[in-house]
Amino acid sequence: MEIASRHNLYVIEDVAEAPGALYKGRQLGGIGHIACFSFFSNKIITTGEGGMIALDDASLKDRIEELRDHGMSKEKRYKHTHLGFNYRMTNMQAAVGLAQLEQLPKILALREQQQRKYESCLNHPEYLSFHPRFAACQPVHWMMTILLKRENIRDALVDYLRTKGIDSRQMIYPVHFARPYQRRYRGGSFPNAERISLNCLHLPSATGLKTEEIEYISACVMAFLRTRV
Ligand SMILES: Cc1ncc(COP(=O)(O)O)c(C=O)c1O
Repeated sequence: MEIASRHNLYVIEDVAEAPGALYKGRQLGGIGHIACFSFFSNKIITTGEGGMIALDDASLKDRIEELRDHGMSKEKRYKHTHLGFNYRMTNMQAAVGLAQLEQLPKILALREQQQRKYESCLNHPEYLSFHPRFAACQPVHWMMTILLKRENIRDALVDYLRTKGIDSRQMIYPVHFARPYQRRYRGGSFPNAERISLNCLHLPSATGLKTEEIEYISACVMAFLRTRV
């Protein structure tokens, strides 16, 4: 924030994955000028699609609300003052989201238990590791992501889990693999991003996931890894 204020910049926080998380005791979403939350179907709170912007600036709020509503002036109906979008959330979606917001502390507590369960079942540092933790951060549990110690076996593990009725996902590719960025970053060396991206996978993560399911998934992961090391 200090750098931003020195250079007259806005800070937009991406809180898509982490409603309720803290940094140095402060809620994420309350640190920058604008915060964006995602309510896509795989997020901690979901309305199917869409999201929320949080901010503390009345004139920016008006501008964002106008942009969301076809660029129509808030003062004068049907007068379009910007080139806008149709990014309105329906009332039905909002009701679904608000009901979950009321439950957020309960949802986060449950998800934290799930994370601890996964971490105890998969506590085999010779085979895999979890997200590193930092003293200043109090994260929330969104997705169970594991980094495999042995390289080039991740896709085989995803296939193996599928045979056991478990849907897992490879991690997304690093940004420089995306076609729009390839020209600019071709030849660049980003070994950590590549190692993490190509050797990580996401295990099933959902508020409704049961303890026995976590035990079964973890047992299948370990059964596979023991054959590969
Ligand atoms: C960190 C982060 N930012 C942004 C997004 C995109 O959110 P949305 O799909 O609601 O646009 C995601 C989705 O997974 C995300 O994880």
